Amino acid sequence: MKEFSPITQPHLSIPHQVAWQSPSNIALVKYWGKYDPQLPANPSVSLTLNQCRTNTSVWCGPRPSAATGTYSFEFLLSGTPKPDFHPKIEGFFHRISSYLPFLTQVHLRIESENTFPHSSGIASSASAMSALALCLWQIARGAEALSDPEFYRQASYLARLGSGSACRSIWGPVVVWGETPGIPQASQEFGWASDRVHPVFADYQDTILLIDQGQKSVSSTVGHQLMVGHPFAEARFKQAHDHLGQMMEVLAQGDLDRFIDLVEREALTLHALMMASNPSFVLMKPATLAVIEKIRAYRKATQNPVCFTLDAGANVHVLYPKSISKTVLQWIQDELVVYCEKESYICDTVGSGSSPING
Ligand code: DP6
Repeated sequence: MKEFSPITQPHLSIPHQVAWQSPSNIALVKYWGKYDPQLPANPSVSLTLNQCRTNTSVWCGPRPSAATGTYSFEFLLSGTPKPDFHPKIEGFFHRISSYLPFLTQVHLRIESENTFPHSSGIASSASAMSALALCLWQIARGAEALSDPEFYRQASYLARLGSGSACRSIWGPVVVWGETPGIPQASQEFGWASDRVHPVFADYQDTILLIDQGQKSVSSTVGHQLMVGHPFAEARFKQAHDHLGQMMEVLAQGDLDRFIDLVEREALTLHALMMASNPSFVLMKPATLAVIEKIRAYRKATQNPVCFTLDAGANVHVLYPKSISKTVLQWIQDELVVYCEKESYICDTVGSGSSPING
């Protein structure tokens, strides 16, 4: 990637407003462990989602003369000011201000809304940080830059500095992040969209069972820290490279049996790592385990290629091909929804990444 030139003056005339939508993503091979500046300890690969998105608009205007902080901004979530999000946003600005020095010279009004409930326990940092990074990068580069592939790589680089997994939300359907032997295009610094994806994965289904809609008991930042000095760290990082290599073959060939085996072992490895950390965390709930057992029994009984993956929380992502979606969704409604808090679940599918919101 070409080096960034710091953008001292925003390209667009001030005041100006830009808006982007960006989806969440679900990792198949998990990023767990990082080092400064926000670089992954192991490579990961995810499916980009479609329905779970953040829509963000950024209005960029003159900095009020009375502003005292390093950055002058407001943040609204679904129309309500949310000052408790300011430290996270300021941390992000701080990490990207060498690329966007104008951040200290303007006022920003950031308005976001998620298409999924904020309290759902779905990680919103990937969609939120990628949408914000794209808005800021468009302000810096101007709308003409949107046709330049480099624009998206650089936006992914900036998004990574907000939240690691956010760098994978820029494109779809399959995005790799982190250097690994055998994929020369993969980078520690930004995501790379694979061009070898079997059609079965282009519209794969992800039904997210909301087992626990409370706040996560371990933030991802704390979680990644747990890998520092973890007794199994070295073996895990080695395994992730191996799994990534296998997963890329599986994704290219559409081999669903191997897909299921790898995806479920990755999910359980993530939780095993947390359980074996110091301090240790059990983020699965009894209902999480009950659902996992149900999925495995259903697969055995029907031979339907349905599997699960997990984030750093209790919710279960049920993954399956679109061709069997009617049958599987019916089974989910009949057998699994009872395990969800308030019977809540989200039907998502694999999508193609972020896009500007016009008008
Ligand atoms: C378990 O990207 O949320 O979802 O870089 O600290 O913002 P930060 O962490 P984050 O971690 C995601 C961890 C994961 C696995 C994954 O998405 O690869």
